[in-house]
Amino acid sequence: MSDDDLKPICEDHELKGRRLSHRIRTEVENEVTELVAQHRISPKIATVIVGEDPGSQMYIRMKHKASNKAGILSDHHDLPETTSQEELLELIRKLNNDSSVHGILVQLPLPKHIDEKTIIAAINPLKDVDGFSPANVYRLFYGGEDLSAATPHGIVTMLDRIGWNDLSGKHAVIINRSTIVGKPLIMLLLNRNATVTVCHSRTKDLPSFTRQADVLISAIGRRTNESDPFFITADMVKDGAVVIDVATPLGDVDFESVKNKTLCVTPVPGGVGPMTIAMLLKNVIAAYKAQIVQ
Ligand code: GUN
Repeated sequence: MSDDDLKPICEDHELKGRRLSHRIRTEVENEVTELVAQHRISPKIATVIVGEDPGSQMYIRMKHKASNKAGILSDHHDLPETTSQEELLELIRKLNNDSSVHGILVQLPLPKHIDEKTIIAAINPLKDVDGFSPANVYRLFYGGEDLSAATPHGIVTMLDRIGWNDLSGKHAVIINRSTIVGKPLIMLLLNRNATVTVCHSRTKDLPSFTRQADVLISAIGRRTNESDPFFITADMVKDGAVVIDVATPLGDVDFESVKNKTLCVTPVPGGVGPMTIAMLLKNVIAAYKAQIVQ
């Protein structure tokens, strides 16, 4: 155990996502070592990007690096922007049938001529390490959290690990309604007994909602440079709240002004981002076990 393992996750009002992600990644690495010793098969993730989006390329590089460090093998398929939907489906069928691949991740967004829903639905749910496929969304609806979406799962794992695993009587306010973040978060927070409100771009009087939040999760992500004003300022935050800023790379929350009002708040970078990667690795292990361990 290193000194860092003894340090709190919530320190000086900062919710240390990076610190927790290191712990989870060490747990995954240890589990991979045991599983490989037992089954003589290494877990493997296959990732796919269609097009040249620099953000997507960077996220995928980080996912590969973290996988490899944890002992997870990885293959990457870089497809040109002109790839047809049928060609992408063909690759997914190939990966579904490849028994050496335990996890498949198609980085979103996809080019406009490809239907995201069709692609996601084509991934074998047992290999769907993003938790986006119909079977895994349905499972989450009924309370199953294995193979749930990495970013929201990382958010509730941070809450769990600071002891906020039962949110009975607490009001959680989410600012986001996407299929990747806001919608799965509703289920994960309801599983923990929170009262959940979802705000979005058409919500009127956002501060009247955020001021009620014991847990405030903000994923607006519309600041385009450092000098743009923050969306969440101290006057919008309830005393003692836990505030989670999902917006990368520039953040939604005025961390310095909000910090002392909160129980804790996640920094950007070093909060939700590293947790997303750690939860992806956990999903690869869950997928591996569902396929390999009888
Ligand atoms: N694009 C933005 N976030 C994600 C994610 O969690 N998974 C995938 N596949 N694409 C994304």
